[in-house]
Amino acid sequence: MKYTAAVLTISDKGSRGERVDESGPMLCALLAQHGFEVVYTCIIPDEMDQIQAELIRCCDERRVSLALTTGGTGFSPRDVTPEATLAVVERETRGIPEAMRAMSLQITPRACLSRSAAGIRGRTLIINLPGSPKAARENMLAVVEPIQHGLDMLASEGSADCAASDQ
Ligand code: MTE
Repeated sequence: MKYTAAVLTISDKGSRGERVDESGPMLCALLAQHGFEVVYTCIIPDEMDQIQAELIRCCDERRVSLALTTGGTGFSPRDVTPEATLAVVERETRGIPEAMRAMSLQITPRACLSRSAAGIRGRTLIINLPGSPKAARENMLAVVEPIQHGLDMLASEGSADCAASDQ
């Protein structure tokens, strides 16, 4: 099944046109390589209310299967992407950031600095990724295969049969 996706770049400088967004286009290409149809992209500042509003629109109006954010997961005072995400999700999916950090820690000890969150709102899975293209790519590659099974379950009616596709 071909799933739809949105990519939200969260960056004060990017939103003001002071920095070229490399992570957003990189994620769009990576998603396309893995069979997703990217139907929406945007660049917004590190503002709680704007991030929440965009995420809600992606879930409730655009109804994308997957909404990725890139940026705003670190320790800077303006980094609020995880808080905005947790404010709008109905069910947290902690295994996804756990897997991203576990995989990333094999690459850099700084992976522990990512505060990324993930969760489900309606039929949409939201995943936070770090802001740099390198970190966003490494984190996404850690989960892009298993999340397809998660999206199958999310799109299904009732209970999905995991045993049928055990890997
Ligand atoms: N994860 C991977 N795989 N590779 C990286 O280079 N950088 C880390 C971390 N996760 C990194 C990573 C760093 S330095 C930070 S500060 C956090 O992601 C948060 O990044 P952000 O503030 O750009 O969102």
